[in-house]
Amino acid sequence: MSTTATLNANAPAPRRMTVPAFRARKGQEPLVMLTAYTARMAELLDPCCDALLVGDSLAQTIYGLPSTVPVTLDTMIAHGAAVARGARTALVVVDMPFGSYEASPEQAFASASRVLKETGAAAIKLEGGEAMAATVAFLSARGIPVMGHVGLTPQAVNILGGYGARGRGHAEQAKIAADAEAIAAAGAFAVVVEGVVEPLAASIAASLSCPVIGIGASASCDGQVLVVDDMLGMFERTARFVKRYDTLSERIQAAARTYSEEVKARRFPGPEHLYEAPKA
Ligand code: KIV
Repeated sequence: MSTTATLNANAPAPRRMTVPAFRARKGQEPLVMLTAYTARMAELLDPCCDALLVGDSLAQTIYGLPSTVPVTLDTMIAHGAAVARGARTALVVVDMPFGSYEASPEQAFASASRVLKETGAAAIKLEGGEAMAATVAFLSARGIPVMGHVGLTPQAVNILGGYGARGRGHAEQAKIAADAEAIAAAGAFAVVVEGVVEPLAASIAASLSCPVIGIGASASCDGQVLVVDDMLGMFERTARFVKRYDTLSERIQAAARTYSEEVKARRFPGPEHLYEAPKA
């Protein structure tokens, strides 16, 4: 690790996005959100983002796990604290992992208050609709801003049976719309709508009074979020809704190949990388 890789901690602190300011962007300029899992990535993304989500998608992007189900609260707190250290102006939102909030509002408060205390993030996100409304109300009334997440909810993969788009039938559409409405009415300051048919996402965005952040949803949502590794092209296979803005995996492999060739040919390190002995 190079000793030059330090965060630019001495720069003056600009104004940070707050939860009320984020909420007030409903119907205004679209909100920009990406996931981040490390301090340095947060520092790089921060100038372009209104919010950084420490997503439990770190299960796949960082830890090579098959789903988000195994992620622990301690893991989310460690990455949440790293992102909060790197972010300067973006609102930092940390995902509540599976099993840390569903049992009761009290369990959710114990977990979420640890997240806010130990990370420095300003808000949490949790998955679920009508069944989570009482918990969202409980947390919001006790100083914990909640971002909801409905539609395709990856923590429910064992119930849903996969990651396919939701809301293809009338009954499921009505259920997802009711879920979004219940979470917003309970006090969520924003709701992520993931992987649903476009007209449903558009109608949820039009009907809720808080911002609706889409992912695989609709361009008419109040904002968009993507998993940063997907957007940067770190993986060969991604969902239909992902747009790759780079092919970072290919560039990393090319750089590693060049490094390997140079080490084997003794072209690296060159004289400019070496410390000279003091002149006698
Ligand atoms: O964990 C995550 O990255 C998320 C986004 C996909 C919304 O929840």
